[in-house]
Amino acid sequence: MPTTSAVQPLQDAALLQRFQALDSFLREHQALWRPRPFVHYPALPWETEHPQLGAWLRAQSLEHAEAAHNQPHLLPAPTPFPQLATTAHALSQIGELPHSPASTLPARFSADVPGRKWQQIDAFARSLSFTETPRHWLDWCAGKGHLGRRLAHNGAALTCLEYNPQLVSSGQQLSHKLGIRAEHIEQDVLANEALTQIKARHTPVALHACGELHTRLLQLASQAGCQQLAVAPCCYNRISTERYQPLSTQAQASTLQLSIDDLGLPLSETVTAGARVRRQRDQSMARRLAFDLLQRQLRGVDDYLPTPSLPPAWLDKPFAEYCIDLAALKHLPTPASQNWQQLEQYGWQRLAEVRNLELLRGLFRRPLEIWLLLDRALYLQEQGYSVRLGTFCTHQQSPRNLLLLAER
Ligand SMILES: C[S@@+](CC[C@H](N)C(=O)[O-])C[C@H]1O[C@@H](n2cnc3c(N)ncnc32)[C@H](O)[C@@H]1O
Repeated sequence: MPTTSAVQPLQDAALLQRFQALDSFLREHQALWRPRPFVHYPALPWETEHPQLGAWLRAQSLEHAEAAHNQPHLLPAPTPFPQLATTAHALSQIGELPHSPASTLPARFSADVPGRKWQQIDAFARSLSFTETPRHWLDWCAGKGHLGRRLAHNGAALTCLEYNPQLVSSGQQLSHKLGIRAEHIEQDVLANEALTQIKARHTPVALHACGELHTRLLQLASQAGCQQLAVAPCCYNRISTERYQPLSTQAQASTLQLSIDDLGLPLSETVTAGARVRRQRDQSMARRLAFDLLQRQLRGVDDYLPTPSLPPAWLDKPFAEYCIDLAALKHLPTPASQNWQQLEQYGWQRLAEVRNLELLRGLFRRPLEIWLLLDRALYLQEQGYSVRLGTFCTHQQSPRNLLLLAER
């Protein structure tokens, strides 16, 4: 198992080794990370086997959950939490990709880019070290093409693919303004013709292209004969199939079957929300959890009922009105008059329990994300690429900070 000192990016045989270790870990403990505390009431299935852990987590406050959220492995919780935390932490170690020295790019390159986005772009660009100097960049799901311009500033050619026409047009204007030789093409990368946009001479790059958008790139780029590419994935759950379709032979052979809900686990970490946003999110969740208790009575069915996301203005409604309106929206009987204050209070109590119970799932967040990245890495290896997987920016700059570098 890797130690925390001198952690390296993963490459060669280490990719498969880590994949296998993660695969067993995730398979063995499915009963702990699959059930979502939000939808289970009054208890999670694993609490029967680990009553002390369940009780301990349920006794903690909302503030406790908030404080522990980003480092659940440090929590002094009852067994089996610490043992799982140690293994999860060790299996989550991935080194930083080496960075080239900071470039002195004219300030106008970053002028139109939000600060944190620019830090991600710059870190991504400085982590690319290909044997062959790229001559033509292909920015995949480029948005306005900020990454592409950062890479092509020294004269390489640039093609940006993006399906939002407004972003294509703003991108074109920005490239023109900065004197970058770029073609911004309006293209749905999931459409059949997308293959015709990829040429063997291209070096494709994708920063935070969601689910199928980046897996499609891996498939098309290997098919088109690209010699090198770099991808930092995000939103693993944005797929059009009901279950995850593994790419590599090894992941296809695993018995681990992932639902869309499971694929959301790696994204469930919050590092960026400010106090106001957090408060709003908490209030919305506490209300939903209270409504969940109410809807079980109204329907006479002791099961979770999904509710749609609601406009923020719903939080300004008095709680009773919120429940009555939501019941109407779900075509449930109108709730009778009740002790609304107490019901709302139960919602907050449940929120604290749910948040603390989620700390256990939280241990599997990064292991699952790395499993998914390794599936991509192993697929690229099968396509004849030599692959490196490492971090390209800090966790604070983006929790989606893993980058796959592949060259043939
Ligand atoms: C998370 S953003 C990343 C944008 C850019 N790479 C960056 O890091 O700023 C994902 C981009 O993919 C684009 N997109 C979504 N679906 C697409 C599709 N089917 N074809 C092409 N682009 C798509 C979105 O419009 C958006 O600009």
